[in-house]
Amino acid sequence: MKMAARYGGSLLIVGALLVLACQSPATPINCRHRAPGPEEVIYQVHQRTNHVWKRHSEQQLRVKIHYDISIDNLVPAKKQLVKNKLFPQAISYLQKTFQVRRPSSSILLSRQCANNQYLKKKSDPHRYCHGACAQHTRCGPVIVPEEHLQQCMLCSDTEMYCGPSGPPDSGGIRDTDFVLYVSAITTERCSQENIVAYAAYCQLEAEMDRPIAGYANLCPNMISTQTQEFAGMLSTVKHEVIHALGFSAGLFALYRDGDGNPLTPRYINGLPLFNDSLGVYQWSDRVVRTVIRNWDVSGSKMVQHKVFLLVTPKVTDEVRKHFNCPILEGMELENQGGMGTELNHWEKRLLENEAMTGSHTQNRVFSRITLALMEDTGWYRANYSMAQRLDWGRGKGCDFVMKSCKFWIVQQSRRNRSVSPFCHTLRSNPLKLACRQDQRAVAICNLQRFPQRLPQEYQYFDAIPGVSPEDLPHYGGAVEIADFCPFTQEFSWHLSGEYQRSSDCTLTQNQPDHLRLLYP
Ligand SMILES: *[C@@H]1O[C@H](CO)[C@@H](O)[C@H](O)[C@H]1NC(C)=O
Ligand SMILES: *[C@@H]1O[C@H](CO)[C@@H](O)[C@H](O)[C@H]1NC(C)=O
Ligand SMILES: *[C@@H]1O[C@H](CO)[C@@H](O)[C@H](O)[C@H]1NC(C)=O
Ligand SMILES: [Zn+2]
Repeated sequence: MKMAARYGGSLLIVGALLVLACQSPATPINCRHRAPGPEEVIYQVHQRTNHVWKRHSEQQLRVKIHYDISIDNLVPAKKQLVKNKLFPQAISYLQKTFQVRRPSSSILLSRQCANNQYLKKKSDPHRYCHGACAQHTRCGPVIVPEEHLQQCMLCSDTEMYCGPSGPPDSGGIRDTDFVLYVSAITTERCSQENIVAYAAYCQLEAEMDRPIAGYANLCPNMISTQTQEFAGMLSTVKHEVIHALGFSAGLFALYRDGDGNPLTPRYINGLPLFNDSLGVYQWSDRVVRTVIRNWDVSGSKMVQHKVFLLVTPKVTDEVRKHFNCPILEGMELENQGGMGTELNHWEKRLLENEAMTGSHTQNRVFSRITLALMEDTGWYRANYSMAQRLDWGRGKGCDFVMKSCKFWIVQQSRRNRSVSPFCHTLRSNPLKLACRQDQRAVAICNLQRFPQRLPQEYQYFDAIPGVSPEDLPHYGGAVEIADFCPFTQEFSWHLSGEYQRSSDCTLTQNQPDHLRLLYP
C-alpha cells in the first residue's frame, strides 16, 4: 500500500507508515487565464439602442448559458454534473452577486471575417468584412449558432458595394447581458498542468466596452464527479467566468470610472494603444501602476522588487481596510507563473486563499476585494453581502503588505509574535502538524528544499535548524506564485494515488467516530 499526503504540488513523506507516491498531484488546480489575442476578440460590437436601461438602470446580471455539442458528448455522469449542477450553481452565484450598470435588451454578436479584414466607415456603427464573412464565427473553441449573429455586412473586393448580405438577423438573444458558451473539448491548453477549465471573453459591446459574450472550456479528463471535489470545481468555474466578465489584463485598459468615462485615453479608433510586447491594450496608471518595493532578503540585503498594483478606487479602499494599511497604493497583482497567471490574478503571497489568486490551494473565498474590482471595471455593481470573509492578511498592517515575507518573519519573531500567516519550520520526521490560519484544518508548513537555488529576490532565510549555511538558498515555500513565502497549508491523503480525504476539520468524514474513541 502506498500512501502519501500531498499539497501545493508536492508530496510528503508522513511518518514511517507512509511511502512516497509518484503520481502527479490532483491539487492544486492552476489557472492560466490568457488574455485573448486581438484576433480572438471582436471589439466595439454595435447593439441596437437599448432603451431598457434608461428606465431602470442597474439590474441583476443575466447570463445565458449555451452548451456546445461537446458537452453532450461527455460521459453521462460528467454531462449531468456540468449541466445540472456546476454551471447553474456558478452562474446563479454570479447573477446574485453582480448587477449590470447598463443592461442589454438583447444581444446579437458580430461575425468574424473570412480573411480577418474589417472595414469601418465614419458615422456607421457596423463593421464590414472585406470580401466575405467567415463561414463560422467562433467564441474560443465554440462555433456560435447562426441565430446569435448579426446579418453579414460586407464590402466587395473593389469596395463598390458595402452592405448586408445573406439572411437577415433574428431578434437576438433576449433579456441577456452576457452569453456564455460552455464546451468540453480536449484542447492543447488542457495538456498544461492541472488545468480544469479556462475562460475568456470574445465580444465586447461598443458603448461601454463591456464583454457581452465569452466561453468557458472544461478539460474533459479533469472533470471530477467525486463529491469531495465538487466545491473546488465550482469555485474554479466561478473564477474562470469572472475572468470572462471583467478580471483580465486584456480588459484593464478598457475599464471606466463611475460616470462611464474611460480610465485610459482612447485613440481615433476609439480604443487605447495596443502594447505588442504585453499582447494587450496598454492601460494607464489610473488602472495599474508599477511600483518598486524595498525587499529584504537573506544576508541582511535589500533588493528592489517590482510589483504591478491595481489602483482603481474601490479596490484601493477595500485593501487599505483589509490589511489595515492606509498608505497602500492599490492591490498587488501576481508577478509570477508566466503569461496567463501573472497580471490576471491577485498576488498569492498577499491573498493566499482568495478565489482570484492564480491557483487553488485551500478554502477558496470570493472576498470583497474581488467584488470591488468588478465594480471598478465600470460595468457592474456588486452586492457585498455575497462576499465571503477572507482572513488571510486581515489587519496585518503595512509591513505585511508592502515588505517581503523575510522582513515580516524576522520582525514578528523579534517581537515574540506569531509569524502567521507565514511559517518557518521545516517538515520533519515525525511530521509536525499545525493548524491552518483559520483553525479549521490541519496543516503543514510548506517550507521545503528546491533542487536549484532560488533567485536572490526569493532567498529569505539566514538560518534554518539542521540546514547548512551554503544550502539555505535552496529553501523556500512550495508555492512559487506566493513569492516562495512559506505558509501553512492544508493537505490531502492519497492511497495508491487515489484521493482519500482532505485535512479539513469541518468535514464530518474527517472527524473521529465518537463511539470508537470512547470504547476503543
Ligand atoms: C508595453 O509593456 C512593456 C512591459 O510592461 C513596457 O515596458 C512598455 O513601456 C509598454 N509600451 C508602451 C507603449 O506603453
Ligand atoms: C444582496 O444579497 C443578499 C443575500 O443574498 C440579499 O438578501 C439582498 O436582497 C441582496 N441585495 C440586493 C440589493 O440585491
Ligand atoms: C521573548 O520570549 C523569550 C522567551 O519566552 C524571552 O526571554 C524574551 O525576553 C522575550 N522577548 C521580548 C522582546 O518580549
Ligand atoms: Zn484565473
